[in-house]
Amino acid sequence: MVATGICRTDDHVLKGALKGIDFPVILGHEGAGIIESVGEGVTGLKPGDKVIPLCIPQCGKCSSCLNPNTNCCLKTHLSESQNVMPDKTSRFLCKGKAAYHFLWTSTFSEYTVVPVDAVAKIDDRVPMDKACLFGCGFPTGYGAVVNTAKVEPGSTCAVFGLGGIGLSAVIGCKSAGAAIIIAVDINSAKFDIAKVFGATECINPLDYSKPIQEVITEMTNGGVHYSFECIGNTDTMKAALECCHMGYGTSVIIGEAPSAAQISFDPILLFTGRTWKGSIFGGWKSKESVPRLVDEFMANKFNLDGLVSHTLPFDQINEGFELLRSGNSIRTILMF
Ligand code: APR
Ligand code: ZN
Ligand code: ZN
Repeated sequence: MVATGICRTDDHVLKGALKGIDFPVILGHEGAGIIESVGEGVTGLKPGDKVIPLCIPQCGKCSSCLNPNTNCCLKTHLSESQNVMPDKTSRFLCKGKAAYHFLWTSTFSEYTVVPVDAVAKIDDRVPMDKACLFGCGFPTGYGAVVNTAKVEPGSTCAVFGLGGIGLSAVIGCKSAGAAIIIAVDINSAKFDIAKVFGATECINPLDYSKPIQEVITEMTNGGVHYSFECIGNTDTMKAALECCHMGYGTSVIIGEAPSAAQISFDPILLFTGRTWKGSIFGGWKSKESVPRLVDEFMANKFNLDGLVSHTLPFDQINEGFELLRSGNSIRTILMF
């Protein structure tokens, strides 16, 4: 590994919010590295290649991979445990004891072992401290807008949560030509950067006495065309649906709710024509799309500068997590 970002999902695991994780575990799923060696029978990759481990694999053979409308490969952690390699062994030892893999990526390690379906070769010229963003945050937020929602020019959008994922959704809305982009966060310190990426208004739910979905509905004459939940909180998922316009509004869930969370909502919201969708890894078929996105980045299609707020040496990983928890960072990149 050369560089890795810290994503909120890593923190969810530390907090025990995601079930099905075995400890001790090597977390991290937003990395960029260089191949040191390949296993027997591996084709298309060689030592020295720059690569991105893929937290959503693309096996290319399962029913989802063969379906053009989904990226939810049946080898993801949602169908099969990725705490061990496909052969059910761990390749990590810590003080003589096995440690578990995470999402088949485990990027918080100088060396990791990943299945061939969970790694993509990228352009040699790309700077690794930026490349790692293509392992989770950027494709997830950006793809939810351009692939899952398919935002059209001139539309009205609301983005809930302005972390690395929400800001990437703002970048997507802007590049899709949205006319109004409403950015929502309880931390107003995120607003300046949201505006740089294209937010046209920024609102803090704590500044209003009524629910934020009502504020947005009034601001937009009946609701937005598209809303994106980039927090992972069931209350804001509901609020994001409720601020969509009757008849044609679409809300996309991007944030990962705690395991076993449930939502109850008024079915009239859907009955009257709103659409509720979810998006994992931005809908990108990972192995084929990540190299393409990196190429577009190298061709200056997106400027991701403001997404990285801190760069630290890897041994300051705990400071990086503190920055995330205190709301003082967007993405912290750890360099090996
Ligand atoms: N209303 C509005 N904004 C909120 C609320 C809320 N109730 N609660 C939290 N936020 C804001 C935070 O202030 C922060 O700016 O949401 C943002 C979340 O950003 P990060 O914590 O940096 O998270 P990020 O890495 O972007 O991931 C977002 O996607 O993949 C999932 O697990 C991940 O659920 C997480 C979500
Ligand atoms: Zn992530
Ligand atoms: Zn598959």
